Amino acid sequence: MKILAIETSCDETGLALLDARGGLSAPKFTVLANLVASQIKIHRPFGGVVPNLAKREHLKNLPLLYKELVGDGGGAAAARFWKTIDLVTVTVGPGLEPALWTGVEFAKSLAKKWKKPLVGANHLEGHLYSFLLPPADGATGTPTKAKAAAKAGVKPTAAKATKFSARQIFPAVALIVSGGHTILLRMESFSKWRRLGETRDDAVGEAFDKVARMLDLRYPGGPEIEKLARRGDGAAIDFPRPMLNSPHGGKKNYDFSFSGLKTAVLYYMRDRKVSKASGTRSRSRVSDADVAASFQEAAVDVLATKATRAAREFGARSILLSGGVAANKALRARFHAVSKKIPCRFLVPEFAYNLDNAAMIGAAGYMAHLRKKKYKIAARGDLMI
Ligand code: KG4
Ligand code: ZN
Repeated sequence: MKILAIETSCDETGLALLDARGGLSAPKFTVLANLVASQIKIHRPFGGVVPNLAKREHLKNLPLLYKELVGDGGGAAAARFWKTIDLVTVTVGPGLEPALWTGVEFAKSLAKKWKKPLVGANHLEGHLYSFLLPPADGATGTPTKAKAAAKAGVKPTAAKATKFSARQIFPAVALIVSGGHTILLRMESFSKWRRLGETRDDAVGEAFDKVARMLDLRYPGGPEIEKLARRGDGAAIDFPRPMLNSPHGGKKNYDFSFSGLKTAVLYYMRDRKVSKASGTRSRSRVSDADVAASFQEAAVDVLATKATRAAREFGARSILLSGGVAANKALRARFHAVSKKIPCRFLVPEFAYNLDNAAMIGAAGYMAHLRKKKYKIAARGDLMI
């Protein structure tokens, strides 16, 4: 099945072409194209994503990416292209509604014009399934301009199923860590799962972004904190590990909270300023790199500890990690280490598929199609997994 996938949930405009095969127990994907036009530079001066700016940029980028994908040959090229397409899929949520609508409307009009079935995709399921995507040759970067995106890997990549069979993967524990979500799932199969916990306040990516701002680092903060943290000492400050061992109502608790950690960093920074001004030694000697490393260490600690606990409790054969924050090498390294210890497999997407992209939406659309899951074709900002 050849799938055209569209992603516009936040600040990346994505268009991808996938070949999908296999049933619900052994899905297999070839990424034929994965175009991403990032808006980071546009939102950076505002320190975060501005929904209406995102909408405007998606409206501008979608036709450009489409042209890159389909070719410039006018009607004939489009007719040739569409002859091969079996399914169109688009992110319907969660995300910023003005941004989501642009993709939804674009997909609707294409599907109608070329008389193709249209399937709604859940962005979080995209992250969840992204470990199934094969490496995309040349598509590792995130080009900033729609034009540059054309170069981002229109080369077909070999189909990679799961290197493992569903029997080797499940039961699994999956952790989705992004700018908007921190969700822990227990998965029985590719189509059956249960939410174990989620964040009660900030998502972990959001905490990275906010702490970055306190350290005068630019948006998005995750990669900046990671870079700075490499020069710092993660044990310099013992920041709180919120809800690490908080059994609520006597039950084991798999919820997260990152707002307390973020506030602890804020207070630390404020007190350090005071120490510096008054000439007090100890705190003023702790560098920004130490703060970044200690914050990252606390966040990684909480995520890894809860995932490990869940994996042990449910006898997981694997731990799946995905979402923008999964690009963090310290987090990946810790998960790799704990998985070895448990022991279970550790499955994580290629670096090209951690951040928002349409290839993962192609995978989610294909799985929704197989599962006969019919999401309404309309923007749903608060859609859950
Ligand atoms: O999945 P994603 O691209 O968008 C959402 O669906 O939210 O995730 C974006 C989030 C941002 O908060 C960003 O700061 C964070 O992922 N992020 C990172 C890293 N790269 C991106 N956080 C920590 N370390 C990174 N290397
Ligand atoms: Zn995302």
